[in-house]
Amino acid sequence: MDLNLPPDFELGVATSAWQIEGDVAGRGRCNWDDFAELPGAIVDGATGEPACDHVHRLDEDLDLLTWLGVDAYRFSISWPRVMPTGTGALSPQGLDFYDRLIDGLLERGIRPVATLFHWDLPSPLEAAGGWPERDTAYRFADYAQAMGERYADRVDRWATLNEPWCSAFLGYCSGYFAPGRKEPGASLAAVYHLLLGHGLAIDRLRDLGARNLGIVLNLIPVIAQSESMEAATRHVDGLQNRIFLDLLAGNGIPPDIRESCASVTDWSFVRPEDTPILATPIDWLGENYYSVMRVAEVDSERHVDAIGQDIADIPACPPLRFDPQPPYTDMGWEVLPEGIEMALRKATDHLPDVPLWICENGAAIAEEIAADGTVHDPNRIEYIDDHLRALLRARDRGFDVRGYFAWSLLDNLEWASGWTKKFGLVRVDPATGTRTPKDSARWYRDVLAARTR
Ligand code: FCB
Repeated sequence: MDLNLPPDFELGVATSAWQIEGDVAGRGRCNWDDFAELPGAIVDGATGEPACDHVHRLDEDLDLLTWLGVDAYRFSISWPRVMPTGTGALSPQGLDFYDRLIDGLLERGIRPVATLFHWDLPSPLEAAGGWPERDTAYRFADYAQAMGERYADRVDRWATLNEPWCSAFLGYCSGYFAPGRKEPGASLAAVYHLLLGHGLAIDRLRDLGARNLGIVLNLIPVIAQSESMEAATRHVDGLQNRIFLDLLAGNGIPPDIRESCASVTDWSFVRPEDTPILATPIDWLGENYYSVMRVAEVDSERHVDAIGQDIADIPACPPLRFDPQPPYTDMGWEVLPEGIEMALRKATDHLPDVPLWICENGAAIAEEIAADGTVHDPNRIEYIDDHLRALLRARDRGFDVRGYFAWSLLDNLEWASGWTKKFGLVRVDPATGTRTPKDSARWYRDVLAARTR
């Protein structure tokens, strides 16, 4: 304990719609519903129904947030729940659900932090080509506007996109995520149109008077394991981090990436007149930090597979292998708390004056479930404690970081890993939906309670 948390440092927990909501019948279909039906796409065959049945257990989950004592709750709005076909008519039932969620948070004194797109694209938009199509950016802006019209008076902070890297490259390059396409050129168009949609959405939200507008990126420190791998590392870093930051900073596509990806795209989707839209000022930037990427030569046998670290995810990838170093979480992700400061620096190098939040951090860790259903997860406590301390050290060194969200409130559908990877502070029994706070939840609650206010 004794983290010496500054009183104005925001602490919260995060979730996302498709991973927890369930109630698939109450909304339109999305890319992840379709993907989950492909044999083998999700390791354990899990689907969006019932997930954590959050829609039907809303009050119970709100009470868990009260019990934890968080300052803020980061959730995502399911586009197909509020706009079932992705365009046009809104669903009164879907809108009502987020009214209840947002009002329930406010009644409990918890700040609502809403993400508009955490990867669940309405199926008709995916069928029309998805994010590689320019039109999707405009459909996203229309959806953002509708959400602003409904909730701008009550949402404290907005994020347009969560981790566009994943939507673009896991979705359209390696096909490891929905929609499962393996088209490197299309994945680069997806990056561009995701960020175009982001810029258009920020403009619309700002016009409506919505406050605190930002985006959440997974900036990952990319480290060369030897001098010979520096060029390859630059390519990976360019696609992992710089392409997003440069577009947001108004610099366009990084010149080295334009060149190194010329074999997979002619970049004809880039239009000079988009530059100011892509660089529409943001009020804050969220970073999700879990690990680092180490780039090594393809000379020795790979020991550990890290989920999301695969050369298939990277367009025009030169020969390399990812080489995470121990200790690892269950995702195969190297645990490196100091990396959080390296990730913050990536943002400040490009966007020096934008306040930062860590919007996700946490660990999938093997845990012991006792006979009475309680869960002892000391490794998760250690992980979060170490990362919070590293973050506070970075803050002391001058990074303008204003808060931290643990991933995640609940065990949930971990995308292609289904129920097999558990990130929750609260255990969810997939068979019954029963919630049981783990030791880490009690610890986080104590951290929150021990703060000097
Ligand atoms: C992030 C996602 C989040 C969750 C964590 C483990 O990339 O934003 O939904 O899957 O990883």
